[in-house]
Amino acid sequence: MSGIRLSDESITTASTTDYSRSRALQPRAHELIPGGAHTYAKGDDQFPVEAPGFMVRGKGCHAWDLDGNEFIEYGMGLRSVTLGHAYPSVIEAAHRQMQLGVNFTRPAKIEVDLAEAMLELVDGADMVKFAKNGSDVTTAAVKLARACTGRDLVAICADQPFFSTDDWFIGTTQMNAGIPAVISDLTLKFRYNDLESLRSLFDQYPDRIACVLFEAEAMTPPEPGFLAGVKALCDRKGSLLIFDEMITGFRWHIGGAQKFHGVTPHLSTFGKAMGNGFAIAALMGKREIMRLGGLDHDEPRVFLLSTTHGAETHALAASLEVIRIYQREDVIGHLWRAGERLRDRVDRSVAGHGLQRHFKVLGRPCNLVFATCDAEMKPSQEFRTLFLQELIRRGVIGPSFVVSYSHSDADIDRTAEVVHQALEVYRKALEDGVGRYLEGRPVQPVNRRYNQQGALQRCAPNASDRTKPIFVDPGE
Ligand SMILES: Cc1ncc(COP(=O)(O)O)c(C=O)c1O
Repeated sequence: MSGIRLSDESITTASTTDYSRSRALQPRAHELIPGGAHTYAKGDDQFPVEAPGFMVRGKGCHAWDLDGNEFIEYGMGLRSVTLGHAYPSVIEAAHRQMQLGVNFTRPAKIEVDLAEAMLELVDGADMVKFAKNGSDVTTAAVKLARACTGRDLVAICADQPFFSTDDWFIGTTQMNAGIPAVISDLTLKFRYNDLESLRSLFDQYPDRIACVLFEAEAMTPPEPGFLAGVKALCDRKGSLLIFDEMITGFRWHIGGAQKFHGVTPHLSTFGKAMGNGFAIAALMGKREIMRLGGLDHDEPRVFLLSTTHGAETHALAASLEVIRIYQREDVIGHLWRAGERLRDRVDRSVAGHGLQRHFKVLGRPCNLVFATCDAEMKPSQEFRTLFLQELIRRGVIGPSFVVSYSHSDADIDRTAEVVHQALEVYRKALEDGVGRYLEGRPVQPVNRRYNQQGALQRCAPNASDRTKPIFVDPGE
């Protein structure tokens, strides 16, 4: 059975795709698991009502749900699967390593092998420490910066959606129940491409900011001099610059956005693409900072990423193979080309439908997202949901347009055809009202305070600006 139906488009309001097995399992999932899933961004509230509930298999950029429906996927493992699902040589490398044992009483040799491989990729980093999750390494970077500087405050970028599951960051979001204000008050925010906003934090809190942590680039490219300006400001103020390379790493460049933009931070954090979906992340940085987590100094010791599963051998083996593939093959070039091809075709469709003011593709080709606005040009979760619904109905599951090495020209062209049809519905919904075409409730922001609340809050940072479409964060 296939969910991909690309032929003659007729605008229907009832999906004919069978999700009966998914529907039967969903209540059980919610009974057993808070939120029904282990990542909020995968949750039922992030997708239209008419969507697959559970996936069972993937190959390349295709994935199959519990009912046997096939989809072309975008985003793929919250942007961690950059090569493709079940990528043979990565799976084989992990499998070979598993057969040798996954966890020992003393370190495994492969810990040193991957350390060498990663340090060759990232300029300016002398030491590395591995973990299972990106959140753990960004939190470790913050702890290290605080220990190293003896300061308590952290400055993060207000315009970027996510850095960690830990209290120092989640405490600053809408979903901060259970986190004392005394912790969230230690995290300050500055604006991207606004050096003055960072400078004023340093003026307001002299000698108190331990680090400045952000993604060198997310949706908006840095203005000339911005990143270098932040670095110079950090150096002048005795604060550490930390680049979160969870998304940019192995996408902008194998050496991260820091290499792409030519600005070297004191510390940086990698994850996601490092393991093509296997759980592996890395904190990387200068020796004089990183060594505080080691055994060869007389300073107070920093408890730096010491976990039972931190260096599980098969994830390290998977990562080594991922690096080998990136070094042998032009993976990054493919990500950019595939994204560019998709953007070009979607932009043409948008123009063809006259939707330029309502639907926009944003970001670098290797990391594309889309923004949806309603008839009044307001960012709209309803229209986002409708668009997702119409993609899914035609066999594309795309909370973003983030591509992988496995997205072929044929996959991209097929997706473009589906997008064209979905935008036709979008256009009609602008005229007739979205309610006529949307089945069920709209999607919701991941980071909201209450389960039931207004659907527009996701667009918060720029919600008052009605003239330009806003990036609707997919919560990844
Ligand atoms: C920019 C960024 N930093 C950190 C994280 C946290 O990574 P993880 O989910 O592996 O803990 C994410 C996850 O989406 C992210 O997008």
